[in-house]
Amino acid sequence: QFSMLTDTFNRHHDYLRISLTERCNLRCLYCMPEDGIDLAPKDDLLTTEEIERLVKLFAKEGGVRKVRLTGGEPTVRKDLTDIVERISRIDGIEHVAMTTNGVALKSKLDALKRNGLKSINVSLDSLVKAKFEFMTRRDGLEKVLKSIDEAIRIGIETVKVNVVVVRGQNDDELLDFVQFAKEKPVNVRFIEYMPFNGNKWETRKMVSYAEMFDTIQKKYPSIARIPDETKSEVGKNFQIDDFQGTVSFVTSMTNHFCGGCNRLRILADGNLKVCLFGNAEVSLRDAMRVDNASDDVLKAIVEGAVKRKKAKHAGMENLAFMENRSMIRIGG
Ligand code: GTP
Ligand code: 5AD
Ligand code: SF4
Repeated sequence: QFSMLTDTFNRHHDYLRISLTERCNLRCLYCMPEDGIDLAPKDDLLTTEEIERLVKLFAKEGGVRKVRLTGGEPTVRKDLTDIVERISRIDGIEHVAMTTNGVALKSKLDALKRNGLKSINVSLDSLVKAKFEFMTRRDGLEKVLKSIDEAIRIGIETVKVNVVVVRGQNDDELLDFVQFAKEKPVNVRFIEYMPFNGNKWETRKMVSYAEMFDTIQKKYPSIARIPDETKSEVGKNFQIDDFQGTVSFVTSMTNHFCGGCNRLRILADGNLKVCLFGNAEVSLRDAMRVDNASDDVLKAIVEGAVKRKKAKHAGMENLAFMENRSMIRIGG
């Protein structure tokens, strides 16, 4: 069953990440190259109808159950709430989530929730205004914090806070972010800094899971692992006594989790990317638009790409030397 999305390592992909735009209202150092990127012209992006068609196909023929909307920054896409609504009502889709920087989120939350959005992951790398502005090259900390509070207030099921830890930039805030999880019912996730084109990654800037864990455990000895709910979690999750929230680590660099990978990506320009670190992509947009592909033909194209997926990290041993898109054009 659902062979379209089962790869040669018997991993079944039931989680689809869809990037809605390459635009963003921030300019994070670890994501957007300093000189910016050549934005794909609007006509090159998937239309809402094309996205809907693909999700229907992936759900029906591939067994996709969860969709995460990403960007760029998904809230800059004008018809975001409409997209959420259309995807939520597709047969088979049980969970629609979004990853956002939270800057322009607050006023949209109500409508998003009403239209079926179940969970949000908010990227937030500093709780200090000046540092937030350094890392994102824009203003916005207050707005992000208000969005997080509002998401909790209106009862979005799960609110996660993504912290990409970069040595020399925000690694001194580790314990402040742990405190954040103590006071708020959120899952704070410390993410190992990963290399992408133009993001100035260096080994020494990466703070490993082991190092972060050590720092936190010294202050909070009661920190204890929460067993994984599924084998496809990217986070190693922990609880700490008397905390409202939880703390996790996303350890792509020092402790990869590719064996349980269940994710595929559709990029804003319609390319299917079967691994975050792979640059083998196929254009589903061209198949639909140029070649007028039937669902059966699309299915064969997707299945072919999935069957070429490598065991881990797109087969690259040294990610720092890998040619890949910039993160802004992948969406995480
Ligand atoms: P959940 O659905 O809540 O598990 O979200 P998520 O962690 O998959 O998504 P999110 O967009 O919040 O990404 C958090 C971090 O995990 C980012 O740094 C992503 O780049 C990273 N990440 C997400 N999916 C993958 C993946 O398939 N492989 C690797 N190596 N990292 C991933
Ligand atoms: N390394 C690790 N995580 C990253 N993200 C963006 N760039 C990087 C990187 N170089 C995170 C963002 C966002 C998620 C989609 O990916 O902070 O939360
Ligand atoms: Fe999946 Fe590739 Fe991420 Fe590994 S690096 S978890 S194979 S997307």
